[in-house]
Amino acid sequence: MFCSAQREEEDIMAETDLFDIMYSCRSMRRLRTDPVPLALIYKVIEAGTQGPSGGGVQAWRFVVVTEQKVKEQIAEIYLRGWRMAETNYAKAGLTPENSKNVRAAAYLAEHLAAPPVLLIPCLRSRKSHEARLNGPNRETFLRILGGSIYPAIQNILLACRALGLGASLTTITTLYEDEMRQILDLPEFLTTYALIPIGYPKGKFGPVTRRPVEEVTWLNRYGEAFPQLPAVENA
Ligand SMILES: Cc1cc2nc3c(=O)[nH]c(=O)nc-3n(C[C@H](O)[C@H](O)[C@H](O)COP(=O)(O)O)c2cc1C
Repeated sequence: MFCSAQREEEDIMAETDLFDIMYSCRSMRRLRTDPVPLALIYKVIEAGTQGPSGGGVQAWRFVVVTEQKVKEQIAEIYLRGWRMAETNYAKAGLTPENSKNVRAAAYLAEHLAAPPVLLIPCLRSRKSHEARLNGPNRETFLRILGGSIYPAIQNILLACRALGLGASLTTITTLYEDEMRQILDLPEFLTTYALIPIGYPKGKFGPVTRRPVEEVTWLNRYGEAFPQLPAVENA
């Protein structure tokens, strides 16, 4: 099913500088239906597994969904979750009409079965987790668990960007864990943490929009300004 996609040369991103890739790794939610070679998906997952994990345990597991029927089942769940999310966005005054982000998110929700690949990063739990999840440091442990899969997820997003593949991090389906578990035949010891639709992008990559460092950083103590400093050239 996976043949080499027909791609125009100009679509292949020439940049390999890590900073260029990070600064233009925005959510690409409008994706073409063209197949993506499985070898590329292998490469992005491999890039993911170069990330760190708690205790070096590498409890990440990945499910790559390419079957149309399965994508459609997941898309149905996602759309249901999106209907709730869009109500919350609307309450905050954000609608597809006034927010580019909501518009793109709505597009993705309505077309989730279209991209050739839905990649689902999961984390394997262990018997010892139970005691920690029921213990006094539960909240800390939950943070650490997430921290054992999100570095891999970010590496995957960066790798997709570097290869000219569109991707975005989504989490709506984690609200429907039981249904996802059934669709994907997941054993009890795996928990989904995200869903990353991957495909060749319809639009162009562009810079991300972020708050400046000095607005979100303090020096030594909270409240003490971190200075705005001149840009350092990439090496
Ligand atoms: C933890 C997390 C959960 C997210 N969940 C979703 C999601 O379910 N659906 C979606 O369309 N985008 C989701 N996003 C993407 C963000 O909306 C997006 O990164 C943000 O709006 C910034 O846009 P940009 O990535 O294009 O710069 C999520 C991002 C993060 C970090």
